[in-house]
Amino acid sequence: MTREVREPRDDEEWRASYELRWRVLRAPWDQPRGSERDEQEERSLHRVCVELAADGALLRVIGTARAHHLGEGRAQIRYMAVEESCRGEGVGADLLISLEEALRADGVVEVVLNARESALRFYERAGYRVVGEAETLYGEIPHARMAKSL
Ligand SMILES: CC(C)(COP(=O)(O)OP(=O)(O)OC[C@H]1O[C@@H](n2cnc3c(N)ncnc32)[C@H](O)[C@@H]1OP(=O)(O)O)[C@@H](O)C(=O)NCCC(=O)NCCS
Repeated sequence: MTREVREPRDDEEWRASYELRWRVLRAPWDQPRGSERDEQEERSLHRVCVELAADGALLRVIGTARAHHLGEGRAQIRYMAVEESCRGEGVGADLLISLEEALRADGVVEVVLNARESALRFYERAGYRVVGEAETLYGEIPHARMAKSL
Protein backbone atom coordinates (compact mmCIF):
# COMPACT_ATOMS: atom_id res chain seq x y z
CA MET A 1 0.00 0.00 0.00
CA THR A 2 1.23 3.50 -0.82
CA ARG A 3 -0.15 6.93 0.03
CA GLU A 4 -0.27 9.85 -2.35
CA VAL A 5 -1.56 13.42 -2.20
CA ARG A 6 -3.13 14.58 -5.46
CA GLU A 7 -6.14 16.25 -7.04
CA PRO A 8 -9.19 13.96 -6.99
CA ARG A 9 -8.99 11.98 -10.25
CA ASP A 10 -12.47 10.61 -10.81
CA ASP A 11 -16.03 10.52 -9.46
CA GLU A 12 -15.15 7.92 -6.85
CA GLU A 13 -12.41 10.14 -5.37
CA TRP A 14 -14.62 13.25 -5.47
CA ARG A 15 -17.44 11.40 -3.73
CA ALA A 16 -15.09 9.95 -1.09
CA SER A 17 -13.55 13.37 -0.50
CA TYR A 18 -16.91 15.04 0.22
CA GLU A 19 -18.02 12.04 2.28
CA LEU A 20 -14.91 12.34 4.46
CA ARG A 21 -15.49 16.08 4.89
CA TRP A 22 -19.06 15.45 5.97
CA ARG A 23 -18.19 12.58 8.33
CA VAL A 24 -15.34 14.43 10.09
CA LEU A 25 -16.45 18.07 9.97
CA ARG A 26 -20.27 18.01 9.86
CA ALA A 27 -21.89 14.75 11.07
CA PRO A 28 -20.64 15.07 14.69
CA TRP A 29 -22.62 18.35 14.91
CA ASP A 30 -25.74 16.91 13.27
CA GLN A 31 -25.29 19.00 10.14
CA PRO A 32 -27.12 17.78 7.02
CA ARG A 33 -25.46 16.33 3.93
CA GLY A 34 -24.67 19.15 1.56
CA SER A 35 -23.43 21.36 4.41
CA GLU A 36 -19.90 20.08 3.67
CA ARG A 37 -19.82 22.09 0.40
CA ASP A 38 -20.06 25.75 -0.51
CA GLU A 39 -20.34 27.92 -3.60
CA GLN A 40 -16.55 28.03 -4.10
CA GLU A 41 -16.02 24.36 -5.00
CA GLU A 42 -15.67 24.80 -8.76
CA ARG A 43 -13.23 27.69 -8.37
CA SER A 44 -11.09 25.92 -5.73
CA LEU A 45 -7.93 23.82 -5.55
CA HIS A 46 -8.70 20.38 -4.13
CA ARG A 47 -6.44 17.73 -2.66
CA VAL A 48 -7.03 14.22 -1.40
CA CYS A 49 -4.66 11.77 0.25
CA VAL A 50 -5.33 8.34 -1.24
CA GLU A 51 -4.21 4.88 -0.27
CA LEU A 52 -3.34 2.80 -3.33
CA ALA A 53 -2.88 -0.92 -3.90
CA ALA A 54 0.33 -2.19 -5.54
CA ASP A 55 -1.38 -2.02 -8.95
CA GLY A 56 -2.38 1.62 -8.39
CA ALA A 57 -6.06 0.89 -7.66
CA LEU A 58 -7.75 3.17 -5.15
CA LEU A 59 -8.17 1.56 -1.73
CA ARG A 60 -9.60 4.60 0.09
CA VAL A 61 -9.42 8.36 0.54
CA ILE A 62 -7.98 9.17 3.99
CA GLY A 63 -7.53 12.93 3.81
CA THR A 64 -9.01 15.96 2.08
CA ALA A 65 -8.38 19.71 1.92
CA ARG A 66 -9.35 22.71 -0.22
CA ALA A 67 -8.13 26.24 -0.99
CA HIS A 68 -9.78 29.13 -2.81
CA HIS A 69 -8.42 32.45 -3.99
CA LEU A 70 -9.49 35.63 -2.19
CA GLY A 71 -7.81 37.99 -4.66
CA GLU A 72 -4.82 40.31 -4.25
CA GLY A 73 -2.39 37.43 -3.67
CA ARG A 74 -4.39 35.89 -0.84
CA ALA A 75 -6.11 32.51 -0.48
CA GLN A 76 -8.09 30.64 2.18
CA ILE A 77 -7.78 27.00 3.18
CA ARG A 78 -10.97 25.22 4.30
CA TYR A 79 -12.32 21.71 4.89
CA MET A 80 -9.16 19.99 6.18
CA ALA A 81 -10.08 16.51 7.35
CA VAL A 82 -8.09 13.33 7.99
CA GLU A 83 -9.63 9.93 8.74
CA GLU A 84 -9.50 9.52 12.51
CA SER A 85 -7.52 6.26 12.48
CA CYS A 86 -4.86 7.86 10.20
CA ARG A 87 -4.14 11.01 12.23
CA GLY A 88 -0.69 11.86 13.54
CA GLU A 89 0.99 10.21 10.55
CA GLY A 90 1.76 13.33 8.51
CA VAL A 91 -1.26 13.19 6.20
CA GLY A 92 -2.59 16.61 7.23
CA ALA A 93 0.86 18.18 6.89
CA ASP A 94 1.29 16.69 3.39
CA LEU A 95 -2.12 18.03 2.30
CA LEU A 96 -1.19 21.53 3.50
CA ILE A 97 2.20 21.44 1.75
CA SER A 98 0.63 20.33 -1.51
CA LEU A 99 -1.98 23.12 -1.41
CA GLU A 100 0.62 25.73 -0.45
CA GLU A 101 2.91 24.70 -3.34
CA ALA A 102 0.05 25.07 -5.82
CA LEU A 103 -1.01 28.42 -4.32
CA ARG A 104 2.57 29.74 -4.44
CA ALA A 105 2.76 28.76 -8.12
CA ASP A 106 -0.47 30.75 -8.63
CA GLY A 107 1.16 33.87 -7.14
CA VAL A 108 -0.40 33.64 -3.69
CA VAL A 109 1.70 35.30 -0.97
CA GLU A 110 -0.56 34.90 2.06
CA VAL A 111 -2.79 32.03 3.18
CA VAL A 112 -5.49 32.49 5.82
CA LEU A 113 -7.78 30.01 7.55
CA ASN A 114 -10.19 29.70 10.45
CA ALA A 115 -8.88 26.99 12.78
CA ARG A 116 -10.84 25.03 15.31
CA GLU A 117 -9.13 25.41 18.66
CA SER A 118 -8.44 21.66 18.66
CA ALA A 119 -6.42 22.07 15.43
CA LEU A 120 -4.48 25.21 16.42
CA ARG A 121 -1.30 23.37 17.32
CA PHE A 122 -1.39 21.47 14.02
CA TYR A 123 -1.47 24.71 12.01
CA GLU A 124 1.17 26.32 14.24
CA ARG A 125 3.48 23.37 13.49
CA ALA A 126 2.94 24.17 9.80
CA GLY A 127 3.96 27.82 10.24
CA TYR A 128 0.57 29.53 10.73
CA ARG A 129 0.14 32.23 13.35
CA VAL A 130 -3.01 33.36 15.15
CA VAL A 131 -4.03 36.81 13.88
CA GLY A 132 -7.44 37.14 15.52
CA GLU A 133 -10.67 35.48 16.53
CA ALA A 134 -13.07 33.93 14.04
CA GLU A 135 -16.74 32.98 14.31
CA THR A 136 -17.88 30.23 16.67
CA LEU A 137 -19.32 27.46 14.49
CA TYR A 138 -22.66 25.86 15.46
CA GLY A 139 -22.55 27.90 18.66
CA GLU A 140 -19.94 25.63 20.18
CA ILE A 141 -16.70 25.32 18.18
CA PRO A 142 -14.44 28.33 18.83
CA HIS A 143 -12.23 29.25 15.87
CA ALA A 144 -9.11 31.39 15.56
CA ARG A 145 -8.15 33.32 12.44
CA MET A 146 -4.68 32.21 11.34
CA ALA A 147 -2.32 33.35 8.59
CA LYS A 148 0.94 32.33 6.95
CA SER A 149 3.14 34.15 4.44
CA LEU A 150 4.26 31.92 1.60
C1 LIG B 1 -6.26 18.62 12.24
C2 LIG B 1 -5.96 17.42 11.34
C3 LIG B 1 -6.32 17.78 9.91
C4 LIG B 1 -4.45 17.12 11.43
O1 LIG B 1 -4.14 16.07 10.53
P1 LIG B 1 -3.03 14.94 10.92
O2 LIG B 1 -2.80 14.11 9.70
O3 LIG B 1 -3.42 14.26 12.15
O4 LIG B 1 -1.75 15.86 11.21
P2 LIG B 1 -0.21 15.46 10.99
O5 LIG B 1 0.00 14.05 11.40
O6 LIG B 1 0.21 15.86 9.62
O7 LIG B 1 0.48 16.41 12.06
C5 LIG B 1 1.48 17.39 11.75
C6 LIG B 1 2.04 17.92 13.06
O8 LIG B 1 0.99 18.55 13.81
C7 LIG B 1 0.83 17.88 15.07
N1 LIG B 1 -0.61 17.80 15.36
C8 LIG B 1 -1.55 17.29 14.54
N2 LIG B 1 -2.76 17.40 15.11
C9 LIG B 1 -2.56 18.00 16.30
C10 LIG B 1 -3.42 18.41 17.34
N3 LIG B 1 -4.74 18.25 17.26
N4 LIG B 1 -2.87 18.98 18.44
C11 LIG B 1 -1.53 19.16 18.52
N5 LIG B 1 -0.66 18.81 17.56
C12 LIG B 1 -1.18 18.25 16.46
C13 LIG B 1 1.44 16.52 14.88
O9 LIG B 1 1.88 15.98 16.12
C14 LIG B 1 2.59 16.82 13.96
O10 LIG B 1 3.66 17.37 14.70
P3 LIG B 1 5.21 17.15 14.30
O11 LIG B 1 5.43 18.04 13.11
O12 LIG B 1 5.93 17.55 15.50
O13 LIG B 1 5.33 15.70 13.96
C15 LIG B 1 -6.72 16.14 11.80
O14 LIG B 1 -6.42 15.90 13.14
C16 LIG B 1 -8.22 16.24 11.64
O15 LIG B 1 -8.78 15.91 10.59
N6 LIG B 1 -8.91 16.67 12.72
C17 LIG B 1 -10.37 16.74 12.73
C18 LIG B 1 -10.90 17.79 11.77
C19 LIG B 1 -10.31 19.16 12.01
O16 LIG B 1 -10.18 19.63 13.13
N7 LIG B 1 -9.94 19.81 10.89
C20 LIG B 1 -9.42 21.14 10.92
C21 LIG B 1 -10.57 22.09 10.93
S1 LIG B 1 -9.98 23.76 11.17
